[in-house]
Amino acid sequence: MNQFYITTSIPYVNGEPHLGHALEFILADSMARYARELNKQVIFSTGTDEHGSKIYNKAKDLKLDVQDFVNQTSDQFKKLAKDLNVSNNRFVRTTDQNHIDRVQLIWQKMSKDFYKSKYIGWYCDGDEAYFTDSEVRENNGICPNHNKPFEKIEEENYFFPLSKYSEKIYQAIIDNKFKIYPKGKRNEMLSFLNDGLEDISVSRPIKKVPWGIEVPGDKKQTIYVWFEALLNYITVLGYPEHSDFQQYWPANIQVVGKDIARFHAIILPAILMSLDLELPQNLYIHGFVSVNGKKMGKSLGNSINPTQIIKKYGVDPTRYYFLRHISSSSDGDFSFEAMDDAYNNELANELGNLIQRSLVMINKYLNGEIGSIPPPEHDIIPYKRAIEAFHLDQALDEVFKQVRSLNQYIDETKPWVIAKQNDKDHLKEVLEYLASSILEIAFLLKPFLPETSKKIEDIFKSKKLPSKLEILFPKLEEPAKHEAN
Ligand code: MSP
Repeated sequence: MNQFYITTSIPYVNGEPHLGHALEFILADSMARYARELNKQVIFSTGTDEHGSKIYNKAKDLKLDVQDFVNQTSDQFKKLAKDLNVSNNRFVRTTDQNHIDRVQLIWQKMSKDFYKSKYIGWYCDGDEAYFTDSEVRENNGICPNHNKPFEKIEEENYFFPLSKYSEKIYQAIIDNKFKIYPKGKRNEMLSFLNDGLEDISVSRPIKKVPWGIEVPGDKKQTIYVWFEALLNYITVLGYPEHSDFQQYWPANIQVVGKDIARFHAIILPAILMSLDLELPQNLYIHGFVSVNGKKMGKSLGNSINPTQIIKKYGVDPTRYYFLRHISSSSDGDFSFEAMDDAYNNELANELGNLIQRSLVMINKYLNGEIGSIPPPEHDIIPYKRAIEAFHLDQALDEVFKQVRSLNQYIDETKPWVIAKQNDKDHLKEVLEYLASSILEIAFLLKPFLPETSKKIEDIFKSKKLPSKLEILFPKLEEPAKHEAN
C-alpha cells in the first residue's frame, strides 16, 4: 500500500495560533515528509474547527459577523502552516459546504444508532463538553481548563450509544490494530475504556448553539461541534463515494494533543465502528508546551505567536527547537533563552560550522572539486526506528551524533596537516568521506529541516563547490533580552 494519510487535529478559530498549534503542525509535517521520502503518496490534512457557541460568542463580543470572523481566523492558521513550511495538501474547514453536506449525510446513516434523551449534568462552555459528577467533584466545581465554574444544564438531545462500542475499541487497542503512542497514553485510554463509557449527546438545542450544522429533519437542534469536527477526517477525503476516501482511509497517523486524546481514542473509533469503517492505524498524542515553565495563556500574558519566533530565528531553527527540544512523548517548554542556546550551540556551532569548515577545506585543497563521492556506511536504523516510534526528538539526536562525530573526525584527522605532508590521495579520501557524510546528514535532516537540507545538498552535490557560502546559521552574537509577549 503506497497511500499514506496523516492528519492533525483542527484548531478552534476562537483565538490566534499559538505554540501548541505550531508544535502539532511541525510534528505531523515531519512525519508526512518522512513518508514521502519512503515514496509514499501522501495526503496530509489539517484545517480549522469553526462551529459552536465559543466561536459564536467570541464573534459577537468582537461585534463581527460570525462568518467573517471565522474566515479571518482560519486564514491565520493557513498562514501559520505556510510560515512553518508545512506541506499539507488539504485544509478542511468545518464551515465548508462539502463538510456540512457530508456531515448531514453521515448523521442520517448513523441515526439508526441515535436515541433522544434528556441530559441533566455539567457542562463547560470553554471545552464545549460535558463532564461527569466525579470530574466536577475532583475539580471542586471549577473547570481546570478554563478556570470557571461548570454549568449545570438540562436539555433534550440526541444521544450516541458510546457504551455499545467500548469492548470492541478496547480489543482493537489490545490487538494493536489501533496503536496509541506514547505507551502511557495508551494505558490511560485503556483504563477509561475499562471503567465503562457513558453515552454521549451529539446535538444541542439550536437556541443554545445557533452556529452549527442543523440536524437533518429537526430544525430545533444543531449537531454537537465535537461530533461533527471529528468527522472532518473522513469528509475531507470525500466520504463516502470519492476515490480518495477509498484509497486513503484508514488514516495511517493522526496527531493530536493530550487534552483531546479521548475524543480521538474513544469517540472517533466508536463513530467509525458505527459507520462500519476501519480505525486509524496510529494515534500519536503529543504533550503540552509551556512558556518559561508556565502554562500558556492569553490571560496569563505569556502567549507567544509562533510567527515571532520564525521572524527572529528563521523557519528551520524554529522547527528544530520544537522537534528536538520539546519532548516527543511528554510536555516541553519554550523560552527564548533555551532557543538562543539551541540555535547558537547546536545549529551555528555544530552543524553550521561543520558545513563551513568542510567547504573551506574542499575549496582550498581540492579547488572545490569533490568528484564522485562514495556513499557512507553509517547505521541509520536507530534514526528510522526513532521516527517510526514517534520519537522525533531522538531521531534528531541521532543526526546530531553524526554531526558531532564528523566535527571530531576533522579535529582528529587534521586535513591541514595532511595537506602539509602533501599526501594528496589521503587528503582526497578524507575530504570525500566528509562530503559524503555531510550529504547523508542533509538527507536525514530532510523531513525535519527541509530548507537547510536542500541548501546543504545544493552545495555538496555540485561539481564545483561555491567559493563562498552564505552562513547557514549566523551566530546570535548578543542574545537579545526577551520579553514574552
Ligand atoms: N478544535 C479542537 C480539535 C478538534 S479535532 C477534530 C481543539 N482545538 S484547539 O485549538 O484547542 O487545539 C488544537 C490542538 O492544539 C490540539 O491537539 C491541542 O491539544 C493542541 N494544543 C493546545 N494547546 C497546547 C499546548 N499548550 N501545547 C501543545 N499542544 C496544545 O482542541
